[in-house]
Amino acid sequence: MQLLMGFLYGALPYIALVTLVVGTILRYMYQERSWSTKSSEFLAKKSLKFANPIFHLGLLMVFGGHFVGILVPKFVTEMGGTDDHMYHMISLMGGLPAGALLLLGFVLLMVRRFATHKSRLQVNTSSMDKLLYLVLAFTIVTGCLATLSNIPGGFDYRESISPWFRSVLMLSPNISLMADVPLIFRAHMLSWMLLALLFPFTRLVHCLSFPFEYFLRKPIVYRQR
Ligand code: HEM
Repeated sequence: MQLLMGFLYGALPYIALVTLVVGTILRYMYQERSWSTKSSEFLAKKSLKFANPIFHLGLLMVFGGHFVGILVPKFVTEMGGTDDHMYHMISLMGGLPAGALLLLGFVLLMVRRFATHKSRLQVNTSSMDKLLYLVLAFTIVTGCLATLSNIPGGFDYRESISPWFRSVLMLSPNISLMADVPLIFRAHMLSWMLLALLFPFTRLVHCLSFPFEYFLRKPIVYRQR
């Protein structure tokens, strides 16, 4: 058991994060031509109109919440006068709609790709895409279930998961912090590490180009036939 804990919370995060960073740099250096979201807009435009913004808005909101909940130490929010109960209420008010939007956007995108526009979009869907969607679904669902399961507030992830994650970033992982973490939160931890392992080899790399190139590049003109 100790060996498994050591692997899951002491070794796997580094394998995942190093793969994420080094793999992404190597992909950019040697495979830049494949660096793309592989947009399917031209294959089925209408169905993307709502699904895509809903998904990305949900994602931005979720990441905003994660930034505060995971990276900002508890004493900082306490110094600002936010006690445990107040923090929990605020995180639910932000986290629940954020998770719901992300899940809704994801489901709409998957229905579009694998049901309503399947015949058109299958040329645009590789085996790696399918694996990515599976791991993404695992991450989103475990995250939402973790939040839902903790509505009564019995588990304080800011005293376990958050300091553990920061200890990983500080290169001195404190594995014992993860000893009493509920199963659904552990599944969520495994899911983001799997996602990080896959990241450099998938269309997800496009998110790194978004802020830098998208706003600056010339518009692409599509003409109707
Ligand atoms: C790509 C990566 C990730 C995605 C897509 C993701 C997604 C989600 C979603 C959808 C939720 C439920 C909505 C919410 O409460 O915001 C959630 C909750 C949560 N996630 Fe993640 N997550 C990711 C990475 C991480 C990481 C790296 C950690 C910590 C090391 C983490 C820890 C948590 C925790 C503790 C919750 C519960 C929050 C609460 O109940 O207030 N997640 N995640």
